Amino acid sequence: MSLKLFAKKDLSLLLQEAEGEHGGLRRALGPLNLVTLGIGAIIGAGIFVITGQAAAQFAGPAIVISFVLAGIACGFAGLCYAEFASLIPIAGSAYTYSYATLGELIAWIIGWDLILEYAFGAATVAVGWSGHLRAFLHDIGTDLPKMPHSSFALLGVNVHLNYDYVGFLVIMAITTILVIGIKESANFTTVIVILKVAIVCMFIGIAGAFLASHAWQPNHWYPFIPPNTGERGQFGWSGILRGAGVVFFAYIGFDAVSTAAQEARNPKKDMPLGILLSLSICTVLYILVAGLLTRLVPYNQLNVPDPVVVGIRTTGQRWATFLVELGAIAGLASVMLVMLLGQSRVFFSMSHDGLLWPWASKIHPRFRTPYISSIVVGFFVALLAMLIPLNILDEMTSVGTLLAFVLVSAGVWVMRRTHPHLERPFKTPLVPVVPILAILFSGALIVGLAWETQVRLVVWLVIGLIIYFSYGRKHSKVQMMNAVERQPKPAPSMAD
Ligand code: ALA
Repeated sequence: MSLKLFAKKDLSLLLQEAEGEHGGLRRALGPLNLVTLGIGAIIGAGIFVITGQAAAQFAGPAIVISFVLAGIACGFAGLCYAEFASLIPIAGSAYTYSYATLGELIAWIIGWDLILEYAFGAATVAVGWSGHLRAFLHDIGTDLPKMPHSSFALLGVNVHLNYDYVGFLVIMAITTILVIGIKESANFTTVIVILKVAIVCMFIGIAGAFLASHAWQPNHWYPFIPPNTGERGQFGWSGILRGAGVVFFAYIGFDAVSTAAQEARNPKKDMPLGILLSLSICTVLYILVAGLLTRLVPYNQLNVPDPVVVGIRTTGQRWATFLVELGAIAGLASVMLVMLLGQSRVFFSMSHDGLLWPWASKIHPRFRTPYISSIVVGFFVALLAMLIPLNILDEMTSVGTLLAFVLVSAGVWVMRRTHPHLERPFKTPLVPVVPILAILFSGALIVGLAWETQVRLVVWLVIGLIIYFSYGRKHSKVQMMNAVERQPKPAPSMAD
């Protein structure tokens, strides 16, 4: 059978599926659930861990500028995601959008790429969570057993592994919650999100008040942009760009709202609201936290597992330090939950389309969740969290997500040309200017990342293509439908 690599999924078919005819997922999420789902995914290891590490290694106090740059890229991409999420309210996010617009091969690439975002992202946060839990327990006088470690040579390279068993266990625990059900998960997220936002606001309030009343303290903002060391990405403007690519991680998550579109009660209206509102709230909070943190503590002292805790400790408020530690532990848990939820739903959609094995779209008869997909994803992520260092996981997550942003933004533009008359409950303003800006900003952040990260991205995509050509394209339902339509005998007309 001849196969079309750019075969597109029919839009009306997609919308039919969104009605739940085939999906069978429960529509339980209202607007407040979606905004909290977004904030639940956004505020996490990015602000609590990576801000400090990126300031210390790449940008200094100018990490504030990095946050502004990454926020602008997310804003443009968020406007594109919002149009797509309202137009095609179905589980699967960017993967699904691109199937209808850019064709199967690109959809596969995005779906595969989203694994980097959600699975590697959840693993990054699990490592950050483990660091905070250890620091917290240490502060109250209990130390967890040290991580086992081993060293060996692999292909002539010395490999040193720390086995972060806490990261492994927390991912498996959250996977259990996800298998039990989406509604329960959303309620769990709402409580934690309120706590998390309160803790971040408390940090801003206490740090701001401390700085205002201690004007004589040394100002760690000078020099605001530390001079470049001579190496690309280490301070100076290239450091700010690298920092933007790294702290971009902190914004990831608003797009996870779109993966829950099939479980939203009123997706057309509430998806754009969920995406844009959660993104705006977090941008303001991040810029304030990054500015205050680097003003309180010399940036070169922030390369620690818990920089925000170090910052609040400087103010001398022990109770607040304690609350920030607890808030980070609870807050990071909700991020892992949304990311694992997103990943299992992307798998669900890809399997439903025949591009992945059928077990990934099996729904549990009682819990109504894609339980096998959740368990397999959970186990894979738990292994990543246990074995791979945080800085590698973080950059892989950023690069994967940025590539998805580029492809989704291109998709909005293509869709406006190919389907100009579709009803769009939310329209991205100024097309094609906004999609082009989203592509340029996201592309610049990819270029700013370490070259090793770019190489790993290419390797990851090649592995994905091998799976697509050996399994996905042979089992694709869209391909099979196309083949039936191409039969020479007079075919009965198919619903368009
Ligand atoms: N934005 C999420 C975080 O910072 C991924 O943890």
